[in-house]
Amino acid sequence: MAKTNCLGIIVFVTIISTIFSTGSAFQYKVGDADGWRLPDDNNQEMYETWASNINFHVKDSLLFVYKNDSVIKVSKPGYYHCNESAIGVAPKDGSTLFTLDKPGFYYFVSGNLDHCMRGQRLTIEVPDPASGPSSHSKTNMAASLSVLGLGMQWMHLLVLLLIWK
Ligand SMILES: *[C@@H]1O[C@H](CO)[C@@H](O)[C@H](O)[C@H]1NC(C)=O
Ligand SMILES: *[C@@H]1O[C@H](CO)[C@@H](O)[C@H](O)[C@H]1NC(C)=O
Repeated sequence: MAKTNCLGIIVFVTIISTIFSTGSAFQYKVGDADGWRLPDDNNQEMYETWASNINFHVKDSLLFVYKNDSVIKVSKPGYYHCNESAIGVAPKDGSTLFTLDKPGFYYFVSGNLDHCMRGQRLTIEVPDPASGPSSHSKTNMAASLSVLGLGMQWMHLLVLLLIWK
């Protein structure tokens, strides 16, 4: 009985410490199950909505998965006016991975500029971890979480030692 309880604790602590100590780079599939496609006419903000639920970090990546379509990274005006050249970008089935390698804004549109006009475009902001009061508190938060993660690791070890006694 006592053994089963301890096993439960070990499993619990392992899960918690894994959550807090894994590296912070995530790969996000743009649009989740919808993937990268022309939004429905009544939901042209679908990619704005999708991005608004996520806090992006440097080193995260975006996976665009599409059918008979394409994705290009453009400038800010190219995003807002859907007029940046997509010459040579043929629609196809496929996927494209972009890494958010530095802080700042990123703009993506469908290579089909008509699709872009109709909402198939995405803007991402990756905050600079080294500036601004809000990102500062986020850094503190991340620091305390990793301290917590470290604490959990120690607790995990301790429980293991107790079990082996
Ligand atoms: C693929 O997209 C192009 C426009 O980008 C369209 O003209 C064509 O009909 C589409 N093909 C299929 C098989 O959906
Ligand atoms: C896109 O349109 C904007 C506004 O009309 C213009 O300033 C910009 O130069 C255009 N870009 C291209 C690549 O045509």
